[in-house]
Amino acid sequence: MQSLQKCLSLEADTKCLVIEPTYAVPDLLDDVRMGLLETPRSLPPKYFYDEHGSQLFDQICDTAEYYPTRVEDALLKRYANNIITEASPSHIIELGSGSSRKTRRLFDACTDLSHHCSYAPFDVCEPMLELAARELDVRYDWLDITPMLGDYHAGLNQLPVDIGTNLFLFLGSTIGNFTPDEARSFIQDLHHRMPEGDYFLIGVDRVKDTEVLNAAYNDSKGLTAEFNMNVLRVLNREVGSNFDLNKFQHRAFFNAAQGRIEMHLLSLEAQTVKLSALQTSFDLEQGESILTEISHKFQHDEIESLLLDCGFEIVRHYEADNQYFSLLLVRANQLIQTGLSRQSA
Ligand code: SAH
Ligand code: TRP
Repeated sequence: MQSLQKCLSLEADTKCLVIEPTYAVPDLLDDVRMGLLETPRSLPPKYFYDEHGSQLFDQICDTAEYYPTRVEDALLKRYANNIITEASPSHIIELGSGSSRKTRRLFDACTDLSHHCSYAPFDVCEPMLELAARELDVRYDWLDITPMLGDYHAGLNQLPVDIGTNLFLFLGSTIGNFTPDEARSFIQDLHHRMPEGDYFLIGVDRVKDTEVLNAAYNDSKGLTAEFNMNVLRVLNREVGSNFDLNKFQHRAFFNAAQGRIEMHLLSLEAQTVKLSALQTSFDLEQGESILTEISHKFQHDEIESLLLDCGFEIVRHYEADNQYFSLLLVRANQLIQTGLSRQSA
């Protein structure tokens, strides 16, 4: 275990603390083998986020159609003082922090309430982490920042531990990008890692009008399409593939039966794609698709049940007035975890 205090000063050039995984995480080649070379074809979403992908994601968040960022930001702005007062965190740890832009609402509340704490943004995208840390360092002179680089699931048990209450953040409905089984296992593992009394703030997107959902993943500037296509560029660079971006089309739609947005790359013609690093190639039929992302949309009670099942106590469920988005502040509760204490109570 490492102490947060030991971590590097951010003043000159920002350095990230590398968080090693505690179990084997498939690398890009494994994921290509398991996802692209099998049918139906798919890729895990984390490969979207190279430097260009992360910048595109930030631009998507500013489009008129992509409401989640605005709505979540408004909720954070409205309830930040309430969240900080309730949780009174010594440390804020953010999983999949990206630009950390919305998180500023919490730091503004801290400034307002003269409540000082440390901040550990945790992400796979190093340039984004460094930029976010530098920007925050300038804005909040009281904030002690330790950017952490790694896989937020496999690295959970390697996070630095320090005295005081932790507030974990998982914003942007990133939980929706997991399958239901992965989401449950992630929240369970997080609960396991949290001492009793630690807090968790999670932002989830809600089921709503299909047109609103579809528009959010098909913005008129084509940024989401560009973001989706960017994963092919990442593959061309990293595994020496020869994807021709002109032969693919972005396709995203709400799958009502599964309650999720699905994002695909559609092959516009029959084609053969080379994968040099694997010394192989594979064929795509015309109209065949590669599933690149799911974004599950939650019902009000669905997310509460999931958190309760994983051992959390719901402290507050903040909802947007139009019920587009939910922020839940929950607390780790050891009683529920044992199951026995419940029965004997
Ligand atoms: N929380 C931000 C960003 C959400 S996008 C927001 O709400 O706007 C998802 C973020 O998770 C990206 O920054 C991406 O780089 C990061 N990410 C994706 N998979 C990850 C993984 N396995 N481990 C760590 N970070 C990951
Ligand atoms: N967590 C975000 C979401 O599910 C991720 C996201 C937003 C996204 N827009 C995207 C991922 C477009 C891929 C493409 O909404």
